[in-house]
Amino acid sequence: MKHLGKVAVLLGGDSSEREVSLLSGNEVYQGLLQAGVDAHLYDTQEQSLFDLKKHGFERVFIVLHGGAGEDGRVQAVLETMGLPYTGCGMLASGLGMDKLRSKMIWQAAGLPVPDFAVLQDDTDFDAVEAKLGLPLFVKPAAEGSSVGVVKVTEKGQLAAVYQDLKQYRGAIIAETFIGGGEYTCGILGSEALPSIKIVPKTEFYDYEAKYFRDDTEYLCPADLSDADEALMRQLAMQAFEVIGGRGWGRVDFLRGVDGKLYLLEINTVPGMTTHSLVPKAAAQTGRTFSQLCLEILEHATLG
Ligand SMILES: Nc1ncnc2c1ncn2[C@@H]1O[C@H](COP(=O)(O)OP(=O)(O)O)[C@@H](O)[C@H]1O
Ligand SMILES: [Mg+2]
Repeated sequence: MKHLGKVAVLLGGDSSEREVSLLSGNEVYQGLLQAGVDAHLYDTQEQSLFDLKKHGFERVFIVLHGGAGEDGRVQAVLETMGLPYTGCGMLASGLGMDKLRSKMIWQAAGLPVPDFAVLQDDTDFDAVEAKLGLPLFVKPAAEGSSVGVVKVTEKGQLAAVYQDLKQYRGAIIAETFIGGGEYTCGILGSEALPSIKIVPKTEFYDYEAKYFRDDTEYLCPADLSDADEALMRQLAMQAFEVIGGRGWGRVDFLRGVDGKLYLLEINTVPGMTTHSLVPKAAAQTGRTFSQLCLEILEHATLG
């Protein structure tokens, strides 16, 4: 095994996804211990990042979801301190957290994204409804966990939905509804993992379906043809690479009723409980949870 040294598992933090991060972080910690790594828990709400070196840490496994741990701020600090860390660097983390900028980059690279429009006070809302069609989705570009995601089904509703969502920071985007299914594809190093189909029992994969209900179905292997499975993995890798991603991550997809695949969004620190999606996909490739954690850690780097 590569020399990995004393490893800090960053978890918790002060984002709205703190609780999920505590769950993921504890499981990663156990997985690393099982792999023989000298791992230690490090809650960034209780201990300063700037003390990592003082405590003798040589490498960092980031399991902070949302906020500073996923948007590039923690990555920038670790970069400056010269401590190798798992996953994406500052730029890719920042872009991944911004649904508008990541979409613009994918579009410029010729990758498929749903038609979208940025909503502003002076937007002609009727024209956007006409262009994107109904139903359509409206969402804040900088949130996660389906917070602020609204499905607009009736004509004339868009302006009012926009007024409600203005409270969120960042841009508000409207997107064409893509109704043929939802998928996700994990990335590990230079490998795209088998896709997973997500089948929520709610109207869409909302906050409740993500955290409170246990009836969402996850199919792995998914229901795609070999050609579509290969295409999804290829698109996932391309989407990851054009934003400058490295290490690991998860790219989410929507499928049109005509079978066309569209990029939905990217997660640069995906969930890592033993029930999460990346571990599920890794299991399909024969990797145990502990092996997955070790592999992500081995990809930790700087720059
Ligand atoms: N254009 C769309 N067409 C169909 N469903 C969508 C669309 N955009 C979002 N959704 C639904 O809303 C959920 C959350 O949207 P998403 O953009 O992934 O935001 P978040 O970062 O909060 O997960 C998706 O998982 C999907 O179920
Ligand atoms: Mg999502």
